[in-house]
Amino acid sequence: MRKKIVAGNWKMNKTLDEAVALVSEVVNMIKDEVTGEVDVVLCPPALYLTTLKPYLEGQTRVALGAQNCHEKASGAYTGEISAPMLKSLGVRYVILGHSERRQYFSETNAQLADKVNSALANGLTPIFCCGESLEQRQTEVHLDFVRAQLTESLFHLSPEQFANIVIAYEPIWAIGTGLTATSDQAQEMHAMLRQHIASQYGQEVADNTSILYGGSANEKNAAELFAQPDVDGGLIGGASLKSREFTLVVKGVKN
Ligand code: PGA
Repeated sequence: MRKKIVAGNWKMNKTLDEAVALVSEVVNMIKDEVTGEVDVVLCPPALYLTTLKPYLEGQTRVALGAQNCHEKASGAYTGEISAPMLKSLGVRYVILGHSERRQYFSETNAQLADKVNSALANGLTPIFCCGESLEQRQTEVHLDFVRAQLTESLFHLSPEQFANIVIAYEPIWAIGTGLTATSDQAQEMHAMLRQHIASQYGQEVADNTSILYGGSANEKNAAELFAQPDVDGGLIGGASLKSREFTLVVKGVKN
């Protein structure tokens, strides 16, 4: 069956010393306190990945992820980081298509399809983000919009390739706003996404796909969100920046 995953997206936060302290604390708390089956992914700013890797040595349930990668393997793309580079650091996951990347860096569904291809070709597991704006929800086009994000960026993949995809549903109106989707809203969207995946790849692939919720998830609401049948964990922003809060979110996963 599908994995439960809680990923921390640190975004552009923390100095190096703070990052080292946070990783050490999280790794120790997870080791000492978390007994359930859950994979934890920490996605710090990319330039800390090499320094942080030794802190995860010997940890079976905590892995490193990046927050983005370029679609090309190498070349004259000043300031960018490629999937082969991440692979060479031992990174396992990469967040792709976060709404902040779509909004501030104009990432399109077509470009994200190329990024997904590059990540998969290099053995990285994409955490593919999708989600609607408040206006789209209010005008009731949210289901179609999110369906199209998957279709346009992922449905060119073979079933074998798709088996390596993790989905994160993140309503834009809930990210960093303190407005969380209700557990019913999350469940409705996640169930629809699973059905959409089943229509393309069959029920077995859909049942094995982890679909995470993101958007102001925290230690207070995580357990209820994660208890929904189609919510397989979370992509956590603000609450991943403090070790105690993040550990409590991870503990919200019940097996
Ligand atoms: P948030 O961010 O938890 O701070 O809302 C989630 C995300 O953007 O991944």
